[in-house]
Amino acid sequence: MRIRNAMVLVSGSLLLTATASGFSPGGLVRSAAVQKKVVTIVWYASPITDTGVRKTMIQAFEKAHPKIRIKLNTAPTNTDTMRSTLTTAISGGATSPDVFMGDVIWPAQFGHNDLALPLSKYLPKSFWTRFAPGLVKGASYRGAVYGAPFFMDAGFLYYRKDLLAKAHLPVPRTWPQLVKESKLLQKRKLVKFGYVWQGADYEGLTCDWMEVMSDAGGSVFNKNYSKVTINSPQSLRALKFLRSLITSHVSPAAETTFQEPQAMNVFDAGNAAFLRNWDYAWSNSNDPKDSKVVGKVGVAPLPTFPGQKQPGYSTIGGWDVYVNPHSKYLAQDLTFIKWITGGQAQTILATKFSEIPTNYSVQKNPAVQRLNPVLKTVHNVHLISRPSGSPVYPSVSQAMYSNLNSALAGTVSPAQALKAAERQIHAAVSKKGL
Ligand code: GLC
Repeated sequence: MRIRNAMVLVSGSLLLTATASGFSPGGLVRSAAVQKKVVTIVWYASPITDTGVRKTMIQAFEKAHPKIRIKLNTAPTNTDTMRSTLTTAISGGATSPDVFMGDVIWPAQFGHNDLALPLSKYLPKSFWTRFAPGLVKGASYRGAVYGAPFFMDAGFLYYRKDLLAKAHLPVPRTWPQLVKESKLLQKRKLVKFGYVWQGADYEGLTCDWMEVMSDAGGSVFNKNYSKVTINSPQSLRALKFLRSLITSHVSPAAETTFQEPQAMNVFDAGNAAFLRNWDYAWSNSNDPKDSKVVGKVGVAPLPTFPGQKQPGYSTIGGWDVYVNPHSKYLAQDLTFIKWITGGQAQTILATKFSEIPTNYSVQKNPAVQRLNPVLKTVHNVHLISRPSGSPVYPSVSQAMYSNLNSALAGTVSPAQALKAAERQIHAAVSKKGL
C-alpha cells in the first residue's frame, strides 16, 4: 500500500503524544467486568452491507460479555446524512446513542466541536498498538484520538469474469481501455451498461473524484495546503472523462443519482460489466440472497489514464467507532470498543464480510488473507486520502461534489464546475478561527 498525501489540512502536528499522557480511568470509569446488573448500550451503525455484519457482531459480543447488551439503532447509508443526524443530536446533549460508527473523515469536525470523546484519554497507549500503521493518526485531531478504527475501505474495480472471458478481453488497466471494453460488451448485447460508480451529489462522489483526478495528475490543494489547486487542466481532463461515461451510455443516465447501494444493485443484478465500490461489494456480489452474479466476479485495482504509473488511485475510506461524550455507560462503551477492534471481531469482519481489518495482526494473518481476495488486492493499490484533516472538510467536500455532480448532469460545463469548486473551497478554508 502506498499512501499519497497526509490527511493534514490544518497546520501543526497530529502526532499521538496525547495517547501517552491521557490514561486516567481510575475513579472515572468503573470496570465493566465487576458490574452486577445487565446494562444496555445503544450502537448507531449503518448497514455497511446487507449481509448482516452488525447482527453477527452483536451476537458474538453479547456472548463474550453477557452483562452488556447492544441495542442496534440503524443509521442511513449516506455518510453525510448520518453525520448531520449525529451532529444535531449530540450537540443538543442527547445521551443516546452511546457508541456510533463514524466515518474516517470525521475526527477533525467531531473533535473540534466536542461531538466525540477523546478516546486516548481513556484507553492506554498499549491499546492503540493493535492497529495497522497510519490508522490511529488518521483518527486523531490535535493530538487526541477520537475514533477507534473499525474497518478500512479502499476503492476497487469489480468486473464480470464470465463476460470478459466470453469476449476474450483482459481486465482493463486504463480508463480508455475500460470504455472500449464496455462498448464492445454492450454492442454484443452481453450486458446493458459498461461501468457503474458513485456519481450522486454526496461524499461518495468526492471519493470517486479523488481517484480519477489523481490518476490525471491533479490535486485539490498544493503540498502544504496553502493553495487550492483543483481548477487545473488535469482536473478538467478527469471531469470531462467522467461526463463522457454518461454521454456515451457506458454509464447509465441515472449515474448522477447513484450512491454505493444503487451502483451495487445494478452490478449484482447482472446489468453492468464493471463496478467501482468498496471492499464489502465483494461479499455482497457473492451473496445469493442479493446477487445474480455469484461466482462470476473478479476484483482488481482501479484503472488509470495511459502513461500514468499503474495502477490507478484508490481513495481511503473506512469507519471508526466513536463514543458520545454524553453517554452514561463509558465503561461498557470502552469494553465494546476493545472487543470490536480485537482478534475475534476483526477476523469475522475480514473473513465473512470481505472488509479490510484495522487490527494489524488480523490484517497480516495469511489464513485471513486466503479467505479475503480484497485484502490481497489492497496491497497492490495506490491509496489516496481526502483532505479531511480540518473541521471545515464537510464544506470543502461539498464544494467538490455538488459542482462535480452538476457537471456530470450536464447543467454546467466541466470548466464552470471546477471554477465554482475552486471558489467555494477557497471560501471554506478562509473561514476565521480554524
Ligand atoms: C464508504 C467509506 C467512507 C466514505 C463513504 C462515501 O462508506 O468507508 O469513508 O466517506 O463510503 O460514500
